[in-house]
Amino acid sequence: MRIGVLTGGGDCPGLNAVIRGVVRKGVTVYGHEFVGFRDGWKGPLEGLTKPLGIQEVRGILPRGGTILGSSRTNLFKIENGVERVKENLAGLGVDALIAIGGEDTLGVATKLADLGVNVVGVPKTIDNDLNGTDYTFGFDTAVNIAMEAIDRLHTTAESHHRTLIVEVMGRHAGWIALHAGLAGGANVILLPERNFDVDQVATYVEKRFQHEYAPIVVVAEGAQPLEGQMVLQNQELDSFGHVRLGGIGQWLAEQLEAKTGKEARTVVLGHIQRGGTPTAFDRVLSTRFGLSAIDAVNEGDFGKMVALRGTDIVRIPLIEGTGELKTVPLERYTEAEVFFGS
Ligand code: F6P
Repeated sequence: MRIGVLTGGGDCPGLNAVIRGVVRKGVTVYGHEFVGFRDGWKGPLEGLTKPLGIQEVRGILPRGGTILGSSRTNLFKIENGVERVKENLAGLGVDALIAIGGEDTLGVATKLADLGVNVVGVPKTIDNDLNGTDYTFGFDTAVNIAMEAIDRLHTTAESHHRTLIVEVMGRHAGWIALHAGLAGGANVILLPERNFDVDQVATYVEKRFQHEYAPIVVVAEGAQPLEGQMVLQNQELDSFGHVRLGGIGQWLAEQLEAKTGKEARTVVLGHIQRGGTPTAFDRVLSTRFGLSAIDAVNEGDFGKMVALRGTDIVRIPLIEGTGELKTVPLERYTEAEVFFGS
């Protein structure tokens, strides 16, 4: 078979490890051929390809980003997008596609599978908000980066008797904030799933100062105050209709400074959370996802997404992964609340 591979959406540590797993097993065990599509769905849409064989995947296991490039292209927003993809796949002699992506990229894959394209999905996102899989790769790396930042911020916050606010990624789901906050011993964690009361946050912060420590507040970029408006950097939307976030940390610093009389500063971790080499956990998960995805293609088991359940890699219908986002359940937040303000 001739198999196309693409990576779409925000890049994520572990993408290259998936590509390597797919190609290594696909060539050496099954004897398939591969075509790399550049920049997500833009590749098949515009026929942008690059060679993808054993040689091209040598040395990429620890490398961040994606050797194929990425974009947030939504075929269903482009005139004749689907027809153009089908024509290009036929023209290039591509029998099947492996799409590695998050909610948006795999959302497109789900619709294409319904329209008869042979596609298998691999779930990727640092946000860990795809349904049907216990974890997505990239999440563990992002959490470790944020945890390390929090560890470092504790000592400087204490030296200067300041509140330090760490803004992490997470537009609709606060998994990174929750895990990094728990692992890093944050004083307060604020998630998009639950609007926060800024006066309550100020009380937690004051309590922490009373204990002669300085507070670290971890806030997800999509968190909002009670009855407040989401804080937007600008109103630009991407082709999947998402706004660019950023700003809640700064807003919170101003509020906390005014309410507590103590200096408050914000650190926005931003794309640092997505860059660089994956953790061992993410390398192993990505590799196992890649191996399972090529098995699925080889068996003609299309319209599926590979997923982690416990310690097993399973295959589920794509729609199970993309139909609804996996947000943080209230009980998980309640667990963390024990540490707030103490
Ligand atoms: O979906 C992954 C993610 O990193 C989100 O956490 C974040 O909101 C978004 O991508 C940022 O996207 P971009 O890099 O395109 O601004």
